[in-house]
Amino acid sequence: MQIKHNISLKTYNTFGIDALAKHFVTINSIVELKQALSLEGYPDIFVLGGGSNMLLTKNIDALVLHLNIKGISIVSEDEDSVLIQANAGENWHEFVLWCLANNFGGLENLSLIPGNVGSAPIQNIGAYGVELKDSFVSCQALDIASKTLKTYSKEACKFGYRNSIFKQEKKGKCIICNVTFKLSKKPHTLHTSYGSIANQLAIMNIIHPSIQDVSQAVIKIRQSKLPDPKQIGNSGSFFKNPVVSTEIYSKLQENFPDIPGYPVSETEIKVPAGWLIEKAGFKGKQFGEYGVHKEQALVLVNYGNAKGQEILELARLIQKTVKQLFNIVIDAEVNII
Ligand code: EPU
Repeated sequence: MQIKHNISLKTYNTFGIDALAKHFVTINSIVELKQALSLEGYPDIFVLGGGSNMLLTKNIDALVLHLNIKGISIVSEDEDSVLIQANAGENWHEFVLWCLANNFGGLENLSLIPGNVGSAPIQNIGAYGVELKDSFVSCQALDIASKTLKTYSKEACKFGYRNSIFKQEKKGKCIICNVTFKLSKKPHTLHTSYGSIANQLAIMNIIHPSIQDVSQAVIKIRQSKLPDPKQIGNSGSFFKNPVVSTEIYSKLQENFPDIPGYPVSETEIKVPAGWLIEKAGFKGKQFGEYGVHKEQALVLVNYGNAKGQEILELARLIQKTVKQLFNIVIDAEVNII
């Protein structure tokens, strides 16, 4: 374990923000993680996974633990399904590709999501009609205070829309080390009803899609709408889609007849924040080195050397404008550091 000092985090966060880590160590195993937590002289720690869901607005005055614990293994299998354990430092998309290469189904709709396996449960990543929780079995997380490993079942994780216990009461208290998924062998259950997937499969002339075809369709859609962090810094959706009551939604429809909405319960409707932000005039707007993506208004981008503070100010302006126009509060989805 080698501790480095004053390290730029620019290549460690997908927004590409050039903040400094006062101390930085790469962690390759649970044993190293425990050792790092026991080091003298580093009272504050900061856990860094794939860095794909954070906006750094300041330097990190702590010991940054860069989680790089690798490994994927089959825990058990029968004719229909397989239990796979993946370690926290595995890149999410590479893990999905590994599952597809082995013809294990369940994660194909979650193809190309940036980030690592260990961060995926924290915000219950989701896309195109599927969420992590749908194939999640359990995860093991190290309790920071006691340095003991604890297993969290699906129920214990309290998954919600972009939410879990790790964003709430366990925030900052434990570090996810590995995740176990239950995936299908044959026959697979496909989730192609999400509008754009069916369209994309039709464009690809595929009538009986495989899980690999669904993954390809998702990859095509994501590439057409979402900027590749390797080319343009971003953290995916910057905001969560707000949920409003059916009464509020009906009132909004009077003024904005084309407002989209997706029922989430009998009394609540989810409104796409991307639509609200586009209507507020921000889609594709560029302010020097940063701005709002031209294909998807929910994504804020760093074209080069933007400061985290600048992007945060833009986010605040968007929130304020959306509130003024629609009287709806949109909350950040990314972690503001
Ligand atoms: N829309 C606009 N203008 C825009 C963007 C969206 O009007 O610029 C409206 C359209 O009506 C569109 C609707 O919003 O039909 C939904 O857009 P989209 O399918 O792109 O999905 P989203 O709700 O904007 C969510 C997730 C994405 C995920 C997609 C696909 C959240 C916060 N975001 O976006 O997740 O990929 O659905 O399932 O729930 C992420 O979390 O980082 C992320 C990219």
